[in-house]
Amino acid sequence: MARFTLPRDIYHGKGSMEVLKTFKGKKAMVCVGGGSMKKFGFLDKAVSYLQEAGMEVKLFEGIEPDPSVETVMKGAQAMLDFGPDWIVAIGGGSPIDAAKAMWIKYEYPDCTFEDMCKVFGLPELRKKAKFCAISSTSGTATEVTAFSIITDYHKGIKYPIADFEITPDVAIVDPELAETMPKKLVAHTGMDAITHAIEAYVSTAHCDYTDPLSIFAIKMIQSDLVGSYNGDMEKRDRMHNAQCLAGMSFSNALLGIVHSMAHKTGAAFADYGAHIIHGAANAMYLPKVIAFNAKNPEAKKRYGEIADYMALGGKNDDEKVALLIACLRKMNDELNIPHCIKNYGADSYPCEQGFVPEKVFLERLHDIAVNAIGDACTGSNPRQPSVEEMEKLLKCCYYDTEVDF
Ligand SMILES: NC(=O)c1ccc[n+]([C@@H]2O[C@H](COP(=O)([O-])OP(=O)(O)OC[C@H]3O[C@@H](n4cnc5c(N)ncnc54)[C@H](O)[C@@H]3O)[C@@H](O)[C@H]2O)c1
Ligand SMILES: [Zn+2]
Repeated sequence: MARFTLPRDIYHGKGSMEVLKTFKGKKAMVCVGGGSMKKFGFLDKAVSYLQEAGMEVKLFEGIEPDPSVETVMKGAQAMLDFGPDWIVAIGGGSPIDAAKAMWIKYEYPDCTFEDMCKVFGLPELRKKAKFCAISSTSGTATEVTAFSIITDYHKGIKYPIADFEITPDVAIVDPELAETMPKKLVAHTGMDAITHAIEAYVSTAHCDYTDPLSIFAIKMIQSDLVGSYNGDMEKRDRMHNAQCLAGMSFSNALLGIVHSMAHKTGAAFADYGAHIIHGAANAMYLPKVIAFNAKNPEAKKRYGEIADYMALGGKNDDEKVALLIACLRKMNDELNIPHCIKNYGADSYPCEQGFVPEKVFLERLHDIAVNAIGDACTGSNPRQPSVEEMEKLLKCCYYDTEVDF
């Protein structure tokens, strides 16, 4: 038996945030990040719509990018103090993911972070509150997914919480919110979205329900991402839907080792000055992982199907895989994303020597490889790497060398 779960309602299109006016409840806690939603007026709008619905509203503000366990615990305490029956998270993946984890702790105050991380092991939520997510970036699709990514900065590791219990009740996919994204965020979140769609399409858990969503999202992202990056707002609006379709797919089909590697490298070099931003990590690792996975005949065939759907040409599956890799690398170039960690420079732009020194990378390589293999996304990857293979793959992602194993 397989399960396919989505939010009960997905409101989409410009102005869809107005649906908040129709929510039924007494108290809403609105969770938000560092200021972009306030600055562009979306936070005020959400609050006034909820007040129009007759609710008392309290804010939990300042959720940082790549939210920490500490922030989750603080937000859960604020929820316990206020007692909301709606949790409304507005912003990018970070505030929405943090709010999902807060929600678990609010419903079950004795639940530890370790308890939350038991894959598909959460108790039943919605005893105290329902959850609405309003996404302002076009990538994570956390507004429709069963995932939340929380960073343990003491360990330098991102942990995915995975359970259909945290699939939101309501998702609002209003493209007006995405129009204020700066270019760099468009690039990163867009490459995150295409990685979701491609990993879900070749995942061992893919099925007839997830494939159409993945493949259509890939096609839309191919057509719209670079234009959106260059300021075409119609394409920007369509990207908001495309990423959501990819999310509907991967929430059910799961992901693969591009995400395992992104989760385990993202915060691993934070002491050297920067995070490897999630979408940029995916963009760099995806072509390498495709080359690695394509040694598996079924995966190769499915990458070939993706290339066909993208009309990339190629006479056989080997050629199609090569063309798919070339197409993704071209997208990285057009979006100003480097091809490897070595060239990952300040502000995530390509540069000759990035912020992760070779020596430090090699020192930490073994532990990162072990952690990546243990990541929740590894199980559904079409080819299971050994620790040695994962180390080799990570090296290819550091130096931008060919994957020939
Ligand atoms: N839950 C999932 O299924 C899932 C999937 C992939 C990634 N993630 C996680 O999500 C996080 C990344 O989320 P993200 O990429 O959406 O970015 P983010 O939420 O971290 O936001 C990045 C920055 O962009 C700003 N911002 C957000 N929306 C904006 C807008 N419309 N206009 C202007 N500025 C805006 C924010 O204020 C913030 O400074 C990572 O922690 C990643 O691991 C979660
Ligand atoms: Zn992702």
